[in-house]
Amino acid sequence: MDTYILGIESSCDETSVSIIKNGCEEIATVVLSQMDTHSNFGGVVPEIASRMHVENITMVIEECLRKANMKMEDIDAIAVTYGPGLIGCLLIGVTAAATLSYIYNKPLVPVHHIAGHIYANNLVSKMEFPLIALVVSGGHTDLIYMEDNYKFKKIGGTLDDAVGECYDKVARVIGVPYPGGPLVDKLSYDGKDTYNLPLPLDDDTYNFSFSGIKSAVINLVHNESQRGNEIRKEDIACSFQNRVVEILTKKTMRALKEYNVKNLIIAGGVSANSGIRNRFSEICKKEGINLTIPNIKYCTDNAAMIASAGYYRFIEGKKSGLDLNAMPGLKL
Ligand code: KG4
Ligand code: ZN
Repeated sequence: MDTYILGIESSCDETSVSIIKNGCEEIATVVLSQMDTHSNFGGVVPEIASRMHVENITMVIEECLRKANMKMEDIDAIAVTYGPGLIGCLLIGVTAAATLSYIYNKPLVPVHHIAGHIYANNLVSKMEFPLIALVVSGGHTDLIYMEDNYKFKKIGGTLDDAVGECYDKVARVIGVPYPGGPLVDKLSYDGKDTYNLPLPLDDDTYNFSFSGIKSAVINLVHNESQRGNEIRKEDIACSFQNRVVEILTKKTMRALKEYNVKNLIIAGGVSANSGIRNRFSEICKKEGINLTIPNIKYCTDNAAMIASAGYYRFIEGKKSGLDLNAMPGLKL
């Protein structure tokens, strides 16, 4: 029998609802992004974000059901992101999910946001285990070993800034508007790798550190402007992106070798980065590694990934009561 999960995601600035069949087949997804509103402020304003989620969540649920040509009665369970994220934003999704669960008497399934990002890959092809997941987002940079569905073992992570956060800060200092990541990625193709930026934390652990390269870019821009020299944004973007891609590939490929794993997935908003996608594709082809990266539209926050991850919780009987709370600092 087929299982339909309705997923809800509202942890940051996207209000999203999706219906996924059997954990891997997309029936319908609606993503309402607040990016245009927040870009006026140079970043996400939490109070505005949660207010916009309140205003839109009912409409997004209805629109998703309409697109799927389904009713709540056809749904088997409701999966929702309950952390990590912005507390006010998470609470809107959790409250909406608990309300639907109560009214329609459907199981409520709590999902970790990063587990969701990982399961965006299940919508490309069913994930094969064991695998290594490289999670690169605005809030996370982690290397995770997965022996099976929903079994996560963190083998390394960032000691300071997440890679997406670092992209956004570099963007700001070179005068690129929020959200800077995609624009720095684009600019890098018009530049040359001329700036001597440091390679971030090049040691024999699986940890990352991006604060050094971020400070190097900030100092470089300030020094050049004090000297009255013009900075070449494209060259900074290219030099920065090359260093980031180099360290991510170096540590990830070593993890695959040392854990004797042949499957790699990349997840999170920064997996939309073309430098990361191209370089990993090249190396994995050469090394015989089976690489999966989500479709661009499911790299950033969406509910399809939450419904997919939720399916694997649901079939294991992992449900929550109606007292489910939002957990802004939830660990994987
Ligand atoms: O996963 P996500 O949507 O939100 C979190 O859960 O954190 O990731 C958002 C991050 C932002 O920092 C954004 O600048 C970055 O992903 N990003 C990119 C690209 N597209 C999005 N960074 C670099 N290159 C891109 N193409
Ligand atoms: Zn995310």
